[in-house]
This record gives sequence, C-alpha cells and structure tokens, in this order.
Amino acid sequence: IKHLLSAADLDAVTATQIHDIAAEMATVAGREVKKLPTLRGRTVVNLFYEDSTRTRTSFEVAAKRLSADVVNFSAKGSSVEKGESLKDTAWTLQAMGADAVVIRHPASGAPHRLTHWVHGSVLNAGDGTHEHPTQALLDTYTMRSRMGKVEGLNVAIVGDVLHSRVARSNALLLHTLGAKVTLVGPPTLVPPAFGSLTPSLGVSYDFDSVLPHADVVMMLRVQKERMNAAFFPSSQEYYKRYGLDSARLRRMPDHAIVMHPGPMNRGVEIAPEVADSPRSTIVEQVANGVSVRMACLYLLLGGRS
Ligand code: CP
Repeated sequence: IKHLLSAADLDAVTATQIHDIAAEMATVAGREVKKLPTLRGRTVVNLFYEDSTRTRTSFEVAAKRLSADVVNFSAKGSSVEKGESLKDTAWTLQAMGADAVVIRHPASGAPHRLTHWVHGSVLNAGDGTHEHPTQALLDTYTMRSRMGKVEGLNVAIVGDVLHSRVARSNALLLHTLGAKVTLVGPPTLVPPAFGSLTPSLGVSYDFDSVLPHADVVMMLRVQKERMNAAFFPSSQEYYKRYGLDSARLRRMPDHAIVMHPGPMNRGVEIAPEVADSPRSTIVEQVANGVSVRMACLYLLLGGRS
C-alpha cells in the first residue's frame, strides 16, 4: 500500500501484518540501541492543522526510531495563518522532498485531497469526523496483546459516536478482523444510520445492558467543541447514563478491559479511578501507538528507495 487514508483500505491480512511488524518494533524500544536504520535519508513531515499530543509525538518518535528526518509543521504560527491553502502548503513540502506526509486536518477528506498534490505517501492522522486509521490499528493491536485475539471479541464503543473518527475507523477495522461491535450512547450522539456502517454492527442506548457481555469497553471523549447544546444538554445526566464509573466497571466480566483513545474528560465520560485502574489500557495504548506507527511507516516507506 502507498497511502493509509482509511481503515476500510485495510484487509485482514494487511492489518495483521502491521500488528506483527509492530510486535517486532516493540522489541526495539527495549534494546540498548533504540534505532533502526530502515528510513535513513528519508523525510517524514508531520502536517498538523488540529491540536494533538499523542498522535503527533508518537509519529515523531516512530519516524526517529526508524532513523528518518522529521519535520514538524503546525498550522498555528505558519503561513496558513496568512491564508495559504492546503494545496500550496503541500507543494512547498513536496519541493523540500517529503517522502511521507502525516496529516491531521479538521476537514473530512483532506488527506485524500493531499494524495493528488504530493508524490510521497500520505498517512491520515485524523480528518474531521471521518477517520483515524492508525488509532484503530493501535487499538486493535492493544486488544490482541491483552486478549490474545481480536476475532470474536464483543467490543462496546461508548459515547459521542457522531463526532468520533476513532469510532468509525475502529468499527470498520474491528469488523474486518472479525469482532462484534456495539455502538452505545444517547440517540443524539449515536444516529441509527451508523448501524449500517458494517453488517455486524449493533446499536444500543442502554449502556447497563451491554456491560455484562463486553470483552472490551472503549470510551469516547465527548467532543463539546464539535457540537451545540442541543446535542449535549447536561454533563450530569450524561455521566449518570453513559459515564463509566466504578459501579459499572464491576458489572463488566472479570477479563474485560477499558480503553480510551485520549484525550479524556475525567468525570464526564470516565471516572478517574476507572481510568487509572489496572483494567484500563489507556497508557498501554499510547506506548503501542509508537510501535504501530513504526510498522505503518516501515510498510509504506521501507520497501521503496
Ligand atoms: N488519540 C488521539 O488522537 O490523541 P491526540 O489528539 O492527542 O493525538
């Protein structure tokens, strides 16, 4: 594959190959020499039009561990603020010899547009409410490493599904890998139409009835910046019905894990003691993000001179 734009582009063989490479890359982190020479002489540009902590830094660490040169471009403080278009910015980066562009953009579809303007690989690091495929890859990798498999798992994705690129990419990839996904949240944030995204997708508005059957409970951030008050009338009411607190954690099967892509709103969608509990994989997801993004860069760039 040349680009990574959508989880829908990944078949089970390719996704499993990325997981297998990530598992090998994870051993690099434990070595005395943490770098591989694979991408020496190659340039990876992080082109971020939206804020990020985990995705931008983990792509940077991943590229550096593969010995690539990394250019971090943030729209804030750049000529984008003077009105420069994405196309002209892309041409500028192309002129500097970018071999790969990792892009985060508020507009759904921006990474796809970018593929027309740069010669190198484009990796979608989150586009609007559309997709975040490397997040889905690191989440499924985390499930595989914690639960031993992805196929056959019952995964509940809970909260602000409507605005979540993480939910969409995970629903697509989990279906490809043979898991059963149930989207859970209030009707304003889980539109019934989302149920047709994949044939195996379920929708529920009753969190408590889903909990006893879940192997994985993936909580989503309430994205207040993308909604108006009509979608989200009361934080207290939301927490009461859809927040993951200690009482709900106890209703989950003993083996079940809690995930969250971050950043979290503690006390809005998840209780602090649940986020920090041994059953939470939140910190592990961040660490796995580096290995998975190393695997993606390796697969997209490693084989080409
Ligand atoms: N999960 C995630 O995309 O986090 P950031 O917004 O910090 O990159």
